[in-house]
Amino acid sequence: MKAVEITKDIYWVGAVDWAVRDFHGYETPRGTTYNNYLIVDDEITLIDTVKHDFATYTLKNIAGVVDPARIKNVVINHIENDHATSLDCVMELAPNATIYISEKGKKGLARFFDLSRWDVKTVKTGDTLAIGKRTLEFIETPMLHWPDSMVTYAREDKILFSQDAFGQHVASAARFDDEFEDSDSAAELDDAVIDYYANILMPFGQIVTSKIAEIRAKGIEIEMIAPDHGLIWRKNPRKVLDKYLEMASGKARRSVAIIYDTMWQSTEKMAVPIAEGVRAAGLDCRIMKLRATPMSVAIKEFWKSQGALIGSPTLNNILYPSVAEFLTHLRGLRPKNRMVGAFGSFGWGGGAVKEAYEEFKRMGLQTVEPGIQIPYRPSRADEEACFEFGRSFAQQVAEYHQRF
Ligand SMILES: Cc1cc2nc3c(=O)[nH]c(=O)nc-3n(C[C@H](O)[C@H](O)[C@H](O)COP(=O)(O)O)c2cc1C
Ligand SMILES: [Fe+2]
Ligand SMILES: [Fe+2]
Repeated sequence: MKAVEITKDIYWVGAVDWAVRDFHGYETPRGTTYNNYLIVDDEITLIDTVKHDFATYTLKNIAGVVDPARIKNVVINHIENDHATSLDCVMELAPNATIYISEKGKKGLARFFDLSRWDVKTVKTGDTLAIGKRTLEFIETPMLHWPDSMVTYAREDKILFSQDAFGQHVASAARFDDEFEDSDSAAELDDAVIDYYANILMPFGQIVTSKIAEIRAKGIEIEMIAPDHGLIWRKNPRKVLDKYLEMASGKARRSVAIIYDTMWQSTEKMAVPIAEGVRAAGLDCRIMKLRATPMSVAIKEFWKSQGALIGSPTLNNILYPSVAEFLTHLRGLRPKNRMVGAFGSFGWGGGAVKEAYEEFKRMGLQTVEPGIQIPYRPSRADEEACFEFGRSFAQQVAEYHQRF
């Protein structure tokens, strides 16, 4: 892809990673992009770099606009590998450029590069950088999603360079939300936003809320949000801000996610009448077998739904490994405002359902107890009990979620 002018004299100079399907263990069926931006003003300024493997792409894109040796400032909003590891390639061509980064960012960056070669200036919230006709303002966003994270606001253009926040893993020839909605669909873009939030930002809901409030209190007008992944928000940047606030507030779909695994299909045979019970209570429902579903997709579906039922057979007294893996993954994401319960088939002593509830308690999630356990194959009567369990669970979910 060539550089794309996103507004007068500001260019997207990033790279599209069409092929990536495993992004640090996170399934990316649509690929992704590493976005960085070049501002052509009296002082030519680059905002972020790209993943190291894509360094030649961004250098070529920059060279299509200006000689990279003329870059005067490099802003590093976030030091994670997918955005900062081409910095050495940029600095090789522009060795006298000044790097602007948060204090924590500088410390972290020193673990990747020998910084003694470069002029590195640390910035904090409220600091500004005048680059000619434009002024850039820095706003630290610690733990969104790394300690060093910050965003850069281009005042005159009203563009928020938001690093990972508001990004989506979508490889596309389109650069903007409206272009993608025309060529693909708004629903697909919405799903990608939820996917990204669920897998990366779920633990940080409170920070999301307070940072957006801080930005709004500053009276900052935003005409464009330019994230480091996926599409740029220009049609209605307010929409994605509101979407984040909604997700952070606990709102979710009137639905129950049934996430399970099975060795000999007995737990699976329980999932079906449970789902019918959920449906009978008027909630939507989706069944996902863990070994047939990428972990990050299961996490997304968990997050989309107001409640989740986790199914596991007992294997050697404990949870089935894929279910344990899912729950461990989920615990790290510190989910809030979701109701959960567990079910499963066992042979003799059992143990999986009990362990699932122990995990729920560690996460502090709202539970419906007891779960439902059935020895070996569910009988017709057991299927009835599963149906009732699903119905009752869904009713409690609907009631619990009235507060959000
Ligand atoms: C290798 C293996 C180990 C098992 N360990 C236990 C166990 O420790 N305790 C128990 O209650 N059942 C145990 N079971 C029995 C299963 O939980 C039982 O067969 C159950 O119905 C399987 O459910 P599924 O069809 O959903 O896989 C074990 C089964 C297998 C194959
Ligand atoms: Fe990141
Ligand atoms: Fe990223």
